[in-house]
Amino acid sequence: MVKVITYGTYDLLHYGHIRLLERAKALGDYLIVGVTSDDYDKTRGKINNQQSLMERVAAVKATGIADEVIVEEYEGQKIDDIRRYGIDIFTVGSDWTGYFDYLNEYCEVVYLSRTKGISSTEIRSSVSKVKLGLVGYSSFLNKFYRESKYVNSIEIIGLCSSDLSKLKEIVNDIELITDDYEKLLDNVDAVYIHSHPKNHFDQCKEALEHRKHVICESPLALTEEQCEKLLNLADKQKCVLMEGNRTAYLTAYSRLLLLLKAGKIGEIASVDATCTSLSTFENYGDKSLKWGSLEAWGATALLPVFQILGTDYNSVDVFSIPFKDYPYLDGFTKLNFLYKNSTATVKVGMNIKSESELIVSGTKGYAYIPAPWWKTDYFELRYENSAENKRYFYPVEGEGIRYELVQLSTAIRGGKPDYYIGRDVTKCIAKTFNQAEDS
Ligand code: CTP
Repeated sequence: MVKVITYGTYDLLHYGHIRLLERAKALGDYLIVGVTSDDYDKTRGKINNQQSLMERVAAVKATGIADEVIVEEYEGQKIDDIRRYGIDIFTVGSDWTGYFDYLNEYCEVVYLSRTKGISSTEIRSSVSKVKLGLVGYSSFLNKFYRESKYVNSIEIIGLCSSDLSKLKEIVNDIELITDDYEKLLDNVDAVYIHSHPKNHFDQCKEALEHRKHVICESPLALTEEQCEKLLNLADKQKCVLMEGNRTAYLTAYSRLLLLLKAGKIGEIASVDATCTSLSTFENYGDKSLKWGSLEAWGATALLPVFQILGTDYNSVDVFSIPFKDYPYLDGFTKLNFLYKNSTATVKVGMNIKSESELIVSGTKGYAYIPAPWWKTDYFELRYENSAENKRYFYPVEGEGIRYELVQLSTAIRGGKPDYYIGRDVTKCIAKTFNQAEDS
């Protein structure tokens, strides 16, 4: 019996796939099809799949062509599979010609001509894209813009800004540049807001009133009540309102949360998050607004505290050191939280440098996420007996912003709220900002 194997993503199964499978089957007597897992696709930069692994497997099975369907989960698996299943022929489409020649050592390699004029990418891009507008003046918007190009369900078509000095790249590339927010809203399906936190509430509210979806950089607003109002308004208008915080959407970070919930380091006693960057006040733009360490870094550092320990803390103490040349700003701030059975520290600095790590301490061990933990691809669980230590790697492409954008488009298309950052966490981040401002 001649055994044949082939691999693919098979997103939105099309006749190019079916023709390939038929010809693969005709090469032998028994066909095994390997469908790539979502995680494996992410590691090779394929982030735009519309269908889940289960849907893609079901579609391949439904063709009735494959005798067996398996999942491809890791790099190098092809060699393992060829040996394990006693494969005679490995085959893929001609778009891969040459790429798999190394498998000749294990079996025959056949490249089948690719069907012209169709691909999953084309089908995905024929679905209309979410038209997104940018709001703000920070140079971070350049990164956001660049990353959006990797997400084929989203297109940035406009920018509303009062200061274009740091945004030349975007200005040269897109047509709709305005300082009239209403004009931007009239032309887009959704907005990404990266302005001073003081402006978030009004800008989110106006967008939602125009029935536009919103992704707003954390904190969503500056009080719990304001958050509540915005979330209710989003529900009423049937719009997605998502807190922008790229860390929450990184695989490494979200896997870490799951391992902690599963008790891998026992009961958690402390979360200690540090975020510092030596930046000049000028980098943060508008001098009429107070934009110190807390505004720049607070929301990022608070995220793991509330996602891991919950939002029900008993008290928070705030200690700040003023910015050197701008004493009305905080150059460094430390927040100490007390919970019933645990504690947390958040350290944020723009004027003072420290190790920007995240450490979660538990009764059995601790989690260590090295600097800069907010865009991490790696963490460790460490124990008293170091032989039990484990390291976890999950690649991050680019700045990591693309994953949050994929989630935005999934939420908009599915008509479902985003579930990565709970509403309790969103409200608690805002509440803490309010308490810190008051102290
Ligand atoms: N294939 C083919 N003809 C096409 C499209 C795909 O023969 N028009 C083959 C590929 O060469 C591969 C298999 O089908 O052997 C699965 O391909 P996959 O990458 O899942 O499909 P694409 O449509 O190429 O997906 P994408 O656009 O996301 O790259």
